[in-house]
Amino acid sequence: MEKIRVYAPATVANVACGFDIFGFAVNRPGDEIVLEKRTEPGISIIEITGDDGRLPKEVAKNTAGIAIQKYLAHIGREDQGFNLSLHKDMPLGSGLGSSAASAVAGVFAANELMGKPLTQKELLPFAMEGERVACGSAHADNVGPSLLGGFIIIRSYDPLDIIQIATPLDLYASIVHPHIEVNTKDARGILDKEISLSTTITQMGNVAGLVAGLMLPDYSLIGRSLVDVIIEPSRAILIPQFAEVKAAALQAGALGCSISGSGPSLFALSKGEETAKQVAEAMRDQFALVGIGSDIFVSPINQQGPMILPN
Ligand code: HSE
Repeated sequence: MEKIRVYAPATVANVACGFDIFGFAVNRPGDEIVLEKRTEPGISIIEITGDDGRLPKEVAKNTAGIAIQKYLAHIGREDQGFNLSLHKDMPLGSGLGSSAASAVAGVFAANELMGKPLTQKELLPFAMEGERVACGSAHADNVGPSLLGGFIIIRSYDPLDIIQIATPLDLYASIVHPHIEVNTKDARGILDKEISLSTTITQMGNVAGLVAGLMLPDYSLIGRSLVDVIIEPSRAILIPQFAEVKAAALQAGALGCSISGSGPSLFALSKGEETAKQVAEAMRDQFALVGIGSDIFVSPINQQGPMILPN
């Protein structure tokens, strides 16, 4: 194969209580990459669309570019060159794993064109390098689910230990993306570096409860566990109307609601697609009340990760 078109999905990281350790993928939005082999070595980013000209075409600064570069170095094939086009079908700085989706689409596409020397899971460290470039931290809670699909637990970063767990079929995510931007680096910078023992115990209870709730499955337990006493209180101030939008989601029937990744998007989980649609609309209406425009997305948990599209 000489050329491939790949779509990688957006993701909800943290999932309330699991800062840097939980994430799940949704069906859309997402990013698309077209990667083509060429005879000269090196990677050229020939086109980026959908980013209003904001993303760097310099390979070392581009999440997809750096991920592919690190991958080629790892498999000892830096002689292989590529032309890359990136189409962003999702907002930047939205808390939906935009940088991760690009990195995942890029490294997945490269591995396919190289004849799949690595398994999908083995591609993770290279996609994580994209995150390091994008926000200074190589967290895996966006790249993990975008690459593998499903609900992902990062049990350990060193050594990397990733677990994918089953989720109930009737579990739907509602996402609202208000038209404001939050920079992940800034949103990480404002976090408290120390937490008390009692706060830790509360959070650990919710982490364990959420995993159990998803696996049993027990929707009420999922709802009770979608509580974040560590990160959400600090980051909520970055999102106007956060408390009101969350209240609107719960009022509309959501099991729980919190910030998606580093925000400003919010996500909610619900039982059933109809409820999830009503929840998304309630969140959008609440932002609209104070003049903030937003986009909404409703999706089951995406189980597939990246997809090869027809060229
Ligand atoms: N876990 C990360 C954070 C996800 O919340 O900072 C952001 O992409």
